[in-house]
Amino acid sequence: MRYAHITGWGAYTPPRIVTNEELSHLVETSDEWIVERTGIRTRHIADAEDHTSTMAIKAGREALKVANLDPAKLDLVICATSTPDYLMPNTASLVQDGLGASHAGAFDLNAACSGFVYGLTVGAAMLRSGLYKNVLVIGAEAMSRVMDWTDRTTCVLFGDGAGAVVLEASDEPGGVMSCRLGSDGSSADVLKVALGTRVPLNPLNMVNGNGPYMKMSGNEVFRFATKTMNQVTRQVAAEAGIAVDDIDLIIPHQANQRILATAAKQLNYPIDRIYSNLERVGNTSAASIPIAMIDALKEGRLHAGDHLLMIGFGGGLTWGACLVQWSYSPEDRRWSSYKRTRQAMRMALAGPRRWASRIERGLDFWELRRRRAERKRTKKSGG
Ligand code: UT7
Repeated sequence: MRYAHITGWGAYTPPRIVTNEELSHLVETSDEWIVERTGIRTRHIADAEDHTSTMAIKAGREALKVANLDPAKLDLVICATSTPDYLMPNTASLVQDGLGASHAGAFDLNAACSGFVYGLTVGAAMLRSGLYKNVLVIGAEAMSRVMDWTDRTTCVLFGDGAGAVVLEASDEPGGVMSCRLGSDGSSADVLKVALGTRVPLNPLNMVNGNGPYMKMSGNEVFRFATKTMNQVTRQVAAEAGIAVDDIDLIIPHQANQRILATAAKQLNYPIDRIYSNLERVGNTSAASIPIAMIDALKEGRLHAGDHLLMIGFGGGLTWGACLVQWSYSPEDRRWSSYKRTRQAMRMALAGPRRWASRIERGLDFWELRRRRAERKRTKKSGG
């Protein structure tokens, strides 16, 4: 029997931190309202240099380092995002290239805030089936790029960032135990960014209020989220053959502290075992669960052997949960200086691999240098 273990993890949040007070200069809101109704105090916002793919690459690099895994050994890169760099090409391919994962397939997965749990479910299934050995699952979002910064009902909630895990196949029992995914497309309008082939970006659509910004019916999502957390937690625990109280830590999608408090009450589960970093990072959609997981690890809240439940809910509407028997404490992933140097050299090979794949495609070395210089010039001149 094959098992899927999380052997590496990494996160990235952009350096720019935006406070509630700063937002109160943009829209009619206050620190008091945001803290009381959501629990959020700050969020990270990407600058012009950071995109979904670049944040995903930074998180992915860190995860590979913790796993001590050569990027060339990755079989697959899954990037869960609802804010891709482009409609086409997929963001995961940009990440695969950026990491030098030259033997990996790559695809994007859009299940909004449930995306990371969907990715974990798919990645783990591929390892268990014997198809693949090493999969990188990333949740990455540039939510600030789809925010209407005049809409106080959404812009105070979201932030940017990325989190990643390496999944490795092993015969050792443990790792991802049971997963459940769900969807209710009849509620598609509850949470929406209407940018796509049905609503092409043109002046008429912008005038009609169909701009490429997030629109949300917060109350409906709130009700759906509390109901889902309660039902799905019970379901997944039962499928894994454990009681809800045997779950050592729940890492939920970070949307609203009041959602977490209501779910804790309904589940009769202690709120201090439902991890939250909302206060610092806000809602980062598909990135929120892996970023929270890594914060929990840093704070010593997660140890080898613990039962961890990750649960996501969001646009679609979609939901998903994975119960994991955690495989490694951070101390187990501290490598000797020889292994660290070897890993740094493997990561440094990403650059030459990127060049090699372009040269293999028939692009002339000097033409590549010319393009790169041109890109740098455009960036400098602010183009
Ligand atoms: O990631 C998954 C997707 N998102 C979520 O899970 C979000 C789930 N929903 C929520 O977190 C909450 O519903 C919100 C935080 C979005 C809203 O909180 P609420 O307690 O449900 O407020 P509300 O929508 O019922 O609005 C109450 C009042 C309204 O004013 P009136 O009509 O009573 O005069 C809003 O206009 O609060 C007003 N309001 C604000 N006031 C100050 C809404 N946003 C703001 C704001 N600052 N930022």
